[in-house]
Amino acid sequence: MKFIQLKGAKVPALGFGTRPLKGEDGVRAVRDALEVGYRHIDTAQLYDNEAEVGGGVKQSGVPRGEIWITTKLANANLAAKDVKRSADESLKKLGTDYVDLLLIHWPSRTVPMAETLAAMAELRASGKTRFIGVSNFTVKLLAEAVERHRADLLCDQVEYHPFLSQRPVLAASRRHGMMLTAYSPVARGRVADDATLQGIARKYGKSPAQIGLRWLMEQDGVAAIPKAGRRAHIEANFAIFDFALAAEDRAAIDALAGGDRIVDIAGWAPDWDEV
Ligand SMILES: NC(=O)c1ccc[n+]([C@@H]2O[C@H](COP(=O)([O-])OP(=O)(O)OC[C@H]3O[C@@H](n4cnc5c(N)ncnc54)[C@H](OP(=O)(O)O)[C@@H]3O)[C@@H](O)[C@H]2O)c1
Repeated sequence: MKFIQLKGAKVPALGFGTRPLKGEDGVRAVRDALEVGYRHIDTAQLYDNEAEVGGGVKQSGVPRGEIWITTKLANANLAAKDVKRSADESLKKLGTDYVDLLLIHWPSRTVPMAETLAAMAELRASGKTRFIGVSNFTVKLLAEAVERHRADLLCDQVEYHPFLSQRPVLAASRRHGMMLTAYSPVARGRVADDATLQGIARKYGKSPAQIGLRWLMEQDGVAAIPKAGRRAHIEANFAIFDFALAAEDRAAIDALAGGDRIVDIAGWAPDWDEV
């Protein structure tokens, strides 16, 4: 496993995404992921599956202290009083008294950023979250949070895979001393159909998804949270630490990255960075 060590945190760089896993399937997938070796689980209030994540953690028998848990504040919960109330609800559902990382899921169009960040900093001071961060923040929004509001952010979680270059926001997160977590890192399975990735995969005896995830793991300060319901995918996505990409193969994957964005929710999405 690669770990990202930053600001006193030690984050397993390969995590497990849980949207849209729910119910028994959700509990089972989280338990399977922990059994396979994942120690970083990503959930959110909006996914309505924090209880399933908590159930999977409990059933796995893995001590809480060995698992990195990230959750995210829903858009409706960004006012100060809602940050605190909803975080308490998240903790209750997760069956834990702290999360490792609490993120703003989407930048708000109504609640001032400073208000949410201040409430999150208070939660952190009270021990209910170890670190705070953001998701779907652009270069401009990151600058506002870090430079104007002096927020101490660990992470920006954004869509990132071989078909979407995130060079501007990755450079910005590094400039601010933050990590970047790649969501939809296997492009919802589309990596499997790409001829370049298929060619590289044959060379290493791996699958295109494993090649794409390895490409992310080899980037400084980058984590990835592939979601998989199928046990075979859960296992395959974890089996990426026994090989390394040659420079020419990394360059070929770099060259794929364009502007192919999958998650672009009208009414929530910010004015994305040009890539
Ligand atoms: N912050 C945000 O706004 C945001 C937005 C989107 C997602 N996320 C987070 O990021 C996580 C991952 O993103 P995502 O679910 O959008 O996309 P993803 O992880 O790129 O793709 C998941 C899909 O790819 C399939 N898959 C997984 N491993 C595979 C493999 N080795 N080979 C072929 N197909 C494979 C899965 O199939 P099976 O399930 O059938 O195994 C599933 O259909 C989410 O679960 C969520 O936790 C965050």
